[in-house]
Formats: sequence, C-alpha cells, structure tokens
Amino acid sequence: MKGRTLLLLAVWLFLVVAGTLFVLRAVEKRAAMERQVSEARQRAEEAVAALQERLKSELTAAMQQGGPAAALRVCAESAQPLTEDFRGEAGFPVGRTALRLRNPANAPGPLAEEWMRRVGVQTSAAAPVEPAVKVEEFLDGDRLLHYWQPIYVQPQCLPCHGMPEQIPAEVADLLAERYPEDRATGFAAGDFRGIFWAQVPLPKIEG
Ligand code: HEC
Repeated sequence: MKGRTLLLLAVWLFLVVAGTLFVLRAVEKRAAMERQVSEARQRAEEAVAALQERLKSELTAAMQQGGPAAALRVCAESAQPLTEDFRGEAGFPVGRTALRLRNPANAPGPLAEEWMRRVGVQTSAAAPVEPAVKVEEFLDGDRLLHYWQPIYVQPQCLPCHGMPEQIPAEVADLLAERYPEDRATGFAAGDFRGIFWAQVPLPKIEG
C-alpha cells in the first residue's frame, strides 16, 4: 500500500515537473519568436527610412536643378537601379509599390496588394494608418516578415502625379512616352499613393 502511494506520488511529481517545463519552454519559444519579429521589423523600418531619404534627396536635387521634366527623366532612369543597389546593401528586398502603378516593374506581391486594398480606401494623410507587419510561413519552415508603410501624396508630387491641369505639358509628354500604361496621375495632396515595403527573412521555427 505504501509502495503504491509512493509510486503515485512520484508519477504525480513527474507530471507536474514535466508540465511546468513544457509550459516554460513554450513561453520561452514564443518570447524568442516575438523578439525575432521585432528585430526584423526594426531592420525593415531602418531600410525603408534610408531608401525614402535617398529617393527624396535624388528627386529634390533634380527638381531644383532642372524642374519637373528634368526630374522626371532622372527619376525614370535612376529609381530602379537605385532601389536595386539598395537591396544589395540592406541584404533583403525593399521597394515601393502601389495599386495605381506608374512603372509595372513595381507591381505588388499578393500580400502587399491585399493589405493596400484593405487599408487604401479609408486612409489619407489626415487619417493615416500605422505601418503593418505580417509573418508569412512556408511549408519548409522558412519565415518572412513583410513590412508595409503607407505613402501619402504631398504637394511636391503633383507635377508628376497630380490632376492633368497640374502636370506641365513636357512632363505629360514624357509620361505618355515612357509609361504608356501610367495609372499614377489624378492624385490630390493627402491621397494614399502606395507603400514602401520590405521583406526580412526570419530564422526557421525550431521543432
Ligand atoms: C519628377 C516627377 C516625379 C515626382 C515629383 C514624383 N514622382 Fe513618383 N514616380 C515618378 C516616376 C518616373 C516613377 C517611376 C519610377 C520607377 O521606375 O520606379 C514614380 C514612381 C512612384 C512610386 C512607385 C510606384 C509606381 O507607381 O511605380 C511611388 C509610390 C511614387 N512615385 C510616389 C511619389 C510621391 C509620394 C511623390 C512626392 C513626394 C512623388 N512620387 C513625386 C515621378 C515622380
């Protein structure tokens, strides 16, 4: 009888200890995953801020030097290679995309498109949405952090993205020539224009 009680006690103790260890491990794993996500998010934010700064200084310099038509030429030539170089430096893909595209090379992936469709209609500079992240998991355990940051139209964007009457004739001609499918005009200041995005790889989930 005594032996049986002891055995039961031992089994009970084992279960309690094993259960506690299991819960602790799960909590720890969760915390580690949250840490990975927040670190990846920070890297995405920094990369996007730097890309934004670089595109902006390029655009501002070109506008000051030669006005909108010259700036359009610069932008059309340099936006893609500049973004490409930037990917090399960041070590992961970053870029810009939109629902109403100018350059089809900036077309969104399915998750970014879904997010823009969801938030794009209700947001403007006066009612901005927060940047968002989503973790995509693949069958082989790979994980990817998607980071999306909204872009709103500012007054200085209008010579190239505004209403037809705001776009200088020379710019309109260049747009028609270079971007026959251009859908990125007709915006007003404050409109949702698109997003900056980044995709940061996350460590695989451990078994
Ligand atoms: C001088 C003309 C010009 C001005 C000013 C300008 N853009 Fe653009 N924009 C372009 C061109 C050209 C492209 C295509 C660049 C490329 O190949 O990626 C473009 C592309 C974009 C894209 C990428 C998505 C797409 O449609 O291809 C976004 C987002 C964008 N512009 C936002 C802005 C915002 C916001 C401003 C104001 C802060 C602005 N632009 C000012 C000419 C301009």
